[in-house]
Amino acid sequence: MPDWIVTTRSPEETRRLGNFLGQAVERPVLFLLSGDLGAGKTCLAQGLAGGLDVPEDEPVTSPTYTLMNQYKGRFDLFHFDLYRLSQPEDLLDLGFDEYVGGPGVVLVEWADRFPEVLQEGLLIRMDWESVDRRRIRFKALDESHETLLERLKNLWEKGEGS
Ligand SMILES: Nc1ncnc2c1ncn2[C@@H]1O[C@H](COP(=O)(O)OP(=O)(O)OP(=O)(O)O)[C@@H](O)[C@H]1O
Ligand SMILES: [Mg+2]
Repeated sequence: MPDWIVTTRSPEETRRLGNFLGQAVERPVLFLLSGDLGAGKTCLAQGLAGGLDVPEDEPVTSPTYTLMNQYKGRFDLFHFDLYRLSQPEDLLDLGFDEYVGGPGVVLVEWADRFPEVLQEGLLIRMDWESVDRRRIRFKALDESHETLLERLKNLWEKGEGS
């Protein structure tokens, strides 16, 4: 399945892309996010929460210490951060498998830490290009996330054109 690459030119644009990503969700899905410090992961996650209708007064931050944050929206959003986990078993201890099989949307930051246990979902890789430009690469690992990616592309292309 081919990659889709977008370059955003501001934090607002990354948030808007995240918002479209949330809007594109029509069933439980899994987002596998990776990128270095300052790549814009939290920025994208904030937009995503907005697109899932998580109320704006709920601040979205990386669950680096809490390991998982939960938000109520059109779908419940379960936001994991693997930064401080040392082995894939720790992820299972958090009940990760049940969240993925459940009715909510799961977002994983630092997903590239344990690629061997994350074999379905939508991979999102963020890279720093310059002070205000970020290169964001999407790759679906299975057919249902390919459908999600197609919906995102359509929304983005329409939104850009208007
Ligand atoms: N195009 C862009 N997209 C996203 N963020 C941008 C962009 N241009 C500049 N920035 C800035 O880059 C920073 C991204 O921070 P953010 O907290 O989202 O990164 P992060 O990947 O979550 O980092 P960390 O791993 O440290 O939590 C913010 O200060 C933001 O204003
Ligand atoms: Mg962050």
